[in-house]
Amino acid sequence: MLKKLGLRYPIIQAPMAGVSTPLMAAEVSNAGGLGSIGVGAAGVAGAKAMIDETRARTQRAFNVNLFVHKAPKPDAMKDAAWLNFLAPRFADYGAEPPKTLRTIYTSFADDPDMLAMLLETKPPVVSFHFGLPSVDAIAALKRAGIYLMATATNPDEARQIEAAGIDAIVAQSIEAGGHRGMFDPAAPDAALGTIALTRLLVRTTTLPVIAAGGIMDGQGIRAALDLGAAAAQLGTAFIACPESIADEAYKKALMGAGGRHTQLTNLISGRLARALSNRFTALSETQGAIAPPDYPIAYDAGKALHAAATAKGEFGFGAQWAGQGAPLARAMRAAELIETLVAEMTR
Ligand SMILES: Cc1cc2nc3c(=O)[nH]c(=O)nc-3n(C[C@H](O)[C@H](O)[C@H](O)COP(=O)(O)O)c2cc1C
Repeated sequence: MLKKLGLRYPIIQAPMAGVSTPLMAAEVSNAGGLGSIGVGAAGVAGAKAMIDETRARTQRAFNVNLFVHKAPKPDAMKDAAWLNFLAPRFADYGAEPPKTLRTIYTSFADDPDMLAMLLETKPPVVSFHFGLPSVDAIAALKRAGIYLMATATNPDEARQIEAAGIDAIVAQSIEAGGHRGMFDPAAPDAALGTIALTRLLVRTTTLPVIAAGGIMDGQGIRAALDLGAAAAQLGTAFIACPESIADEAYKKALMGAGGRHTQLTNLISGRLARALSNRFTALSETQGAIAPPDYPIAYDAGKALHAAATAKGEFGFGAQWAGQGAPLARAMRAAELIETLVAEMTR
């Protein structure tokens, strides 16, 4: 895999929609790792602009990541109950909740225009989160010479990825920051940790396995390689980099006491994700039987609440995704972080 992509180091900077940037991805790729951009929330024009910018900044391979979730089922009653539950929190900041909620992202599975754009721009690597696109879409991307990767959180998803003809598997453990890539969010979740999941996938598939979840330093990367991983994918380690567009409050929380507590929540977006414990995740204490709408409909409400609170100086309702290794985060330039990780790996 390293050879195929021309990587000097087995280090992948995770795609992080809303946090990673073309600049970050290019700096990581230029430093010898694989940089990634998360375009799942960007729309076709936004995604193309990000690909163009990354390409302008690096000649090396980079990864473009897409969300392949099942389209949510609209449920006006569920939306109304959720907005009713959140209304007092909006009122705390002198705001009204939105009247209705929208499906704010199109799944790549339902987005032929995004596929056409990828076939035209041909980024070196494309990766999928939350599931797989159609057989035809995979075949077309492969014919275009694009290296494909997909997230698995368990051996069953890994088998589906291998059968679909994908080139590499991102083994995302329960320790990871951000959304769990489970194909079916309602399925029982074995919540596998990085060590068990990496070993299970190395033993049960023939594809390169990329370990992800809680890996923050060179020692962690070395351990992942010892487990048989071809590379490690790190997300939280890059949030505090100056190239990240995480807001200052998020970076401050990550680097301070907030980093010591992460938790899984589905309240922010409608899908399970690991975040810094904050005012949003604390709503679980009062939600009772009220469930958030499906992903990404709930995220429309989550973003609106964050905007209302931010306007009054309260930053505790942000989607502050972070993995269990958060207290190990370092605020340094992405290229310097790659150098540091490599030095730690080889020490
Ligand atoms: C802020 C943040 C945003 C993320 N966004 C995405 C994304 O857009 N696409 C994706 O495939 N994974 C995303 N992830 C998950 C990462 O790909 C990866 O699984 C995770 O960062 C690994 O765990 P770590 O954060 O402990 O390193 C995100 C993670 C974080 C922390």
